[in-house]
Amino acid sequence: MEIHFAQEKDLNRVNELRKQVNDLHVVGKPEVFKPGFCDELRNYIQTIFRDPEQRIVVAEQDGKICGFAVLHHIYKPENPFMYERDFLDIDEFCVDEAFRRQGVASAMVAFIKNWAKDQGYHRIELNMWEFNQDALAFYEQAGFVTFRRYMEMMI
Ligand SMILES: CC(C)(COP(=O)(O)OP(=O)(O)OC[C@H]1O[C@@H](n2cnc3c(N)ncnc32)[C@H](O)[C@@H]1OP(=O)(O)O)[C@@H](O)C(=O)NCCC(=O)NCCS
Repeated sequence: MEIHFAQEKDLNRVNELRKQVNDLHVVGKPEVFKPGFCDELRNYIQTIFRDPEQRIVVAEQDGKICGFAVLHHIYKPENPFMYERDFLDIDEFCVDEAFRRQGVASAMVAFIKNWAKDQGYHRIELNMWEFNQDALAFYEQAGFVTFRRYMEMMI
């Protein structure tokens, strides 16, 4: 398996994986996520690809893209409440259903950690939806810890 940054020719396949994540979110949080994968969502991959602050990582096995992640450099200047923050955010992350539990996501995280260190980052952040306990199990075993929570009450 090879992990590398996406080329433009990889983006259609990346969109197939983005749709898998969207479908999962629609089932898990139907009052929030819109079903389907509209042209706007599909085309947004081009915006990500062209943004100098974002990078798309892909995992490739036997010539097939089987996983991807979107990395986003976030910089928030100091304000009266908080110090300056400068970190790498994992915006989107998915391994194709047919390739799960084979170490693909672990290999992507290892690649991302190494690259982030080389770039001078000291912190990687991500957020996830609480219903997605499979993702939580993966992220925790990969070494991520919860540092903040969103809570809700249906009324
Ligand atoms: C979460 C996800 C990325 C994990 O990818 P993966 O390639 O299957 O993960 P790995 O094979 O590297 O898993 C490494 C370890 O993480 C843990 N793990 C991974 N998936 C798990 C699951 N569904 N349930 C429990 N533990 C899990 C296990 O400890 C696993 O080791 P093991 O297989 O030897 O038991 C994948 O299931 C996925 O893409 N899910 C749908 C999209 C998604 O939820 N994305 C993240 C939120 S946006």
